[in-house]
Amino acid sequence: MKQRNKRVLLGITGGIAAYKCAELVRRLKDHHVDVKVVMTDSAKHFITPLTMQAVSGELVSDSLLDPQAEAAMGHIEFAKWADLVLVAPATSNIIAKMAVGIADDLLTTLLLATPAQVAIAPAMNQQMYAHVATQDNLATLAKRNIAIWGPGQGEQACGDVGAGRMLEPHELVQLVLQALSPEAKVLQGKVVTITAGPTREALDPVRFISNHSSGKMGYGLAEAALALGAEVNLISGPVSISAPCGVNLIAVESAADMHVAALTHAPKSDIFIGCAAVADYRAATVAEQKIKKQGDELTLTLVKNPDIIADVAALAVSRPYTVGFAAETQDITTYAKGKLTNKKLDMICANDVSKPDAGFNSEHNALTLFWHDQQQDLPLTSKKELALTVMKAIAEKIK
Ligand code: PMT
Repeated sequence: MKQRNKRVLLGITGGIAAYKCAELVRRLKDHHVDVKVVMTDSAKHFITPLTMQAVSGELVSDSLLDPQAEAAMGHIEFAKWADLVLVAPATSNIIAKMAVGIADDLLTTLLLATPAQVAIAPAMNQQMYAHVATQDNLATLAKRNIAIWGPGQGEQACGDVGAGRMLEPHELVQLVLQALSPEAKVLQGKVVTITAGPTREALDPVRFISNHSSGKMGYGLAEAALALGAEVNLISGPVSISAPCGVNLIAVESAADMHVAALTHAPKSDIFIGCAAVADYRAATVAEQKIKKQGDELTLTLVKNPDIIADVAALAVSRPYTVGFAAETQDITTYAKGKLTNKKLDMICANDVSKPDAGFNSEHNALTLFWHDQQQDLPLTSKKELALTVMKAIAEKIK
């Protein structure tokens, strides 16, 4: 018997990113996903129901109290029809309503009535996203197992720069397909610990040694692990991006702090991923007062930091599957394979950081995954998409 197509109910709310929903629906339909669209009143200011009707091939619903709609497909039928309800863009308003369970229109009502998995793609001004009220509401939704996809970082329609952009349609399509696939939750019941971002090694009370890691790759891995059903510890050096809702964030500064946190969580984890750009050296002594200018040269004595991932891989008891990253600018394969062997890792992700459009502080990246007996090239794509592929590759190995 032919299986029916997967069904996504797309709830569009009133944000400028609503214009991207036409593309989102088209791409979902390319993957044989049936889509029905429900729009809030404010969504209709940003994209017309007629556009959404044309791309979905279905009448668009927008009213809870429409006798005709109720006779054909009312809120309860909608709620039951869907395999996944995706709210995109999800404004701060709908997030707040969902958090307290308000049901005052078709979308909010069916969100309470649906037994299906629910996902939201937040999109709003960065200040609104960072507001404690929004963050508290998102944490409430995450606790209820509502998947929170994004937001992305970057320039916003209002001119601000920061977290709050809706994920791009192709990124949402990947997450939808992932959520709808039978093996979606391949990391259910697993604990994943990830290090991300840079470390800061103090020289004196106001100066430190650090690097350009933004945390985007590691945070993408954390989001991907969550999407695959894992419980996630994210040990992060100082970054300016927000952690995905639902992760256990452990904020650290130095390599020494990260070492302690990693060795606390790694033995309780199934998978450990060292994506952080850890400073190999720190100052032998940290000056108590600000170092004064003293002539033309200043000599600093540096001492080696502990190798965090090597210590995790060396755990005699409760050793997790251990995955490193190798940021290289030359002889990528040789150096990456060297680190795989010397640090006794199970897998390493070789990252050519000499390219301007990949690696440190970029939205995109490309990797080559190395195991002791195998390798896989992952071409340039968004760090979020890449992270999902990496996490699936790891999940496959620990099955
Ligand atoms: O944060 P983004 O801007 O998104 O950039 C992502 C990234 C480029 C930082 C990331 O993809 C990456 O390549 N991370 C590893 C960076 C690095 O420092 O690599 P490495 O070759 O120096 O270290 C090899 C491995 O050992 C890494 O897993 C590292 O976390 C680990 N390490 C290194 C030193 C140390 N003292 N302890 C460690 O655990």
